[in-house]
Amino acid sequence: MERAYAPYSRFKVGAALVGEDGTVYEACNVENAAFPAGTCAERAAISAAVAHGVRKFTTIVIASSADEPTPPCGMCRQALIEFAPELEVVSVTRGGKEAHWRLADLLPQAFSPSSLEHTTE
Ligand code: THU
Repeated sequence: MERAYAPYSRFKVGAALVGEDGTVYEACNVENAAFPAGTCAERAAISAAVAHGVRKFTTIVIASSADEPTPPCGMCRQALIEFAPELEVVSVTRGGKEAHWRLADLLPQAFSPSSLEHTTE
């Protein structure tokens, strides 16, 4: 989180994505002067893990500069559920506040890989 590049929102986020094999992939949000080109910490962590060959995850820990624990944004929920429908989501603040969710509760009735099956042209 402290290394986040967030000069526009000043909202720093760090994410630690824990693989089933115990490996941890860290990332942060990286903003851009062309705002939509910025990336969230959670999706950056997925990219790091997948690039290292890890695709199964147990937990993501999110740290942000907010005073209250923040859940992942909608796009990150969708990106995470592709790989880890059972994911535990933990969010922490600098002040030591903590919140816990199950990803499936944060994104019920998700569009998933199986949604693409049984299609007709
Ligand atoms: N952000 C994340 O990194 N993760 C989230 O789940 C929510 C938002 C970032 C994007 C942007 O750089 C800043 O926080 C404010 O939205």
